[in-house]
Amino acid sequence: MQRKTIKALLNSKPIDTTVCVKGWVRTKRNSKQVVFIMLNDGSTIHSLQVVMDANQLTEEVLFQITPGASLVITGTVATSPGGEQAIELHASQIEVLGTAPNYPLQPKRHSLEFLREIAHLRFRTNTFGAVFRIRHATSYAIHHFFHTAGFTYLHTPIITGIDAEGAGNMFGVSTLNPSQVPKYPDGSVDFTTDFFGQKTSLTVSGQLEAEAAALGLGAVYTFGPTFRAENSNTSRHLAEFWMVEPEVAFNDLSDNITLAETFLKYVIQFVLEHCPDDLAFLQKRAAEAQAKQANGLPAVPLLEKLHKVIADEFTCITYTEAIDILKHSKPNQKKKFAYPIQTWGCDLQSEHERYLVEEHFKKPVVITHYPSEIKAFYMRQEGGNTVAAMDVLFPGIGEIIGGSQREERLDKLTAVMQQKGMSTEALQWYLDTRRLGTIPHSGFGLGLERLVLFISGMDNIRDVIAFPRTPGHAEF
Ligand code: 4AD
Ligand code: MG
Repeated sequence: MQRKTIKALLNSKPIDTTVCVKGWVRTKRNSKQVVFIMLNDGSTIHSLQVVMDANQLTEEVLFQITPGASLVITGTVATSPGGEQAIELHASQIEVLGTAPNYPLQPKRHSLEFLREIAHLRFRTNTFGAVFRIRHATSYAIHHFFHTAGFTYLHTPIITGIDAEGAGNMFGVSTLNPSQVPKYPDGSVDFTTDFFGQKTSLTVSGQLEAEAAALGLGAVYTFGPTFRAENSNTSRHLAEFWMVEPEVAFNDLSDNITLAETFLKYVIQFVLEHCPDDLAFLQKRAAEAQAKQANGLPAVPLLEKLHKVIADEFTCITYTEAIDILKHSKPNQKKKFAYPIQTWGCDLQSEHERYLVEEHFKKPVVITHYPSEIKAFYMRQEGGNTVAAMDVLFPGIGEIIGGSQREERLDKLTAVMQQKGMSTEALQWYLDTRRLGTIPHSGFGLGLERLVLFISGMDNIRDVIAFPRTPGHAEF
């Protein structure tokens, strides 16, 4: 008999029909007469209640049906007498595919830290089932948004010879024998005999390649793995994450901001529409976690938070205005910031971003026109030492998007590169795009995990990617 997913069954409720389901046992209770099994197959947050006459099962099979065991069950769909679920399955046959002795997931709430240690099994929990279905819906919505808007999906290289962000936090890629690295007399590594004949790394951004493509295709986006060897062990940073980078010919900074706001709202709306049960579950979960916390302050319920972000217009302020607000803010005056705001030109830390979003404006904030000193070389120079940059900040997250209008003027671009001590040699192809039919253009980068963190209401970025890579961690 053809297998039905639990999601399909719960949706269609085919009372009195005989069906076959397959999945993993969440819980089992039994008396001498009846056995009750909650079966989950990952298609939905809901488990299916299976009821069977215990006398129809051998002692051995009954013993093998424990949490984590995988089963094939055939039975008849019936209306469930209890108020908990609409339907249940009256099983006529149960086959155990795989037993699960010493299964580490018990029918109780495990800590997220513990579940990270068994990341290969956490997909079988309600929380991670919900998170990964939401991550899927988010990714799908991203593709759908850009496709509908006429963008071309561009796959940019993962191995690269360039440092697109000029931040130098890259993972090297080499086939040289680490114990016999060829060196020049001055001690520096000779990469000419390496696989690519040059020094290469894992990409920190596909932007520069996306720019080249946008200057031919008009509007493109990348969506791929991105690597940063920054040693920031925070709940917002991963060494390997997924970045979405649209790049649009003829867009200026204001078009770029509009695109970012429309895009974020579309994706959040899409997930609200397509994952109501998973979101409802996570909302309840977050509320329970919050209630346990010492301060006990009621948090805004997840769904309310998501609807509010869609309803509110994002506030746009300049970096200069942001510094002004922060300088005069209570936490700055009471010396509560770990990095006190003193002068124009300092970089904003996540504590500052979160103050602006969560305390001051209480909604998403776009900060524009940052000092060129603290931003990447490719951003368009303006008078007064600022660049046409934009960062989108979200409540509970801080920076979710970073972008800019690009410097399209060859002379200004090369001047900044020199000023920042960059070699123009390796980027001649990039400079060509400014020599040959240059145009104003803009783009931004969204960290997928930061968006999923926001939508799912989870607290730690390690819990919204299947197998997180962070300093000291590359298990699984
Ligand atoms: O602000 P970033 O560094 O910008 C760029 O890489 C540009 N090239 C983007 C562009 O204009 N095309 O990174 C963009 C976003 C951040 O706002 C953040 O959401 C995410 O990528 N991000 C990270 N997410 C998780 N872990 C990390 N270590 C991240 N670093 C950046
Ligand atoms: Mg940034």
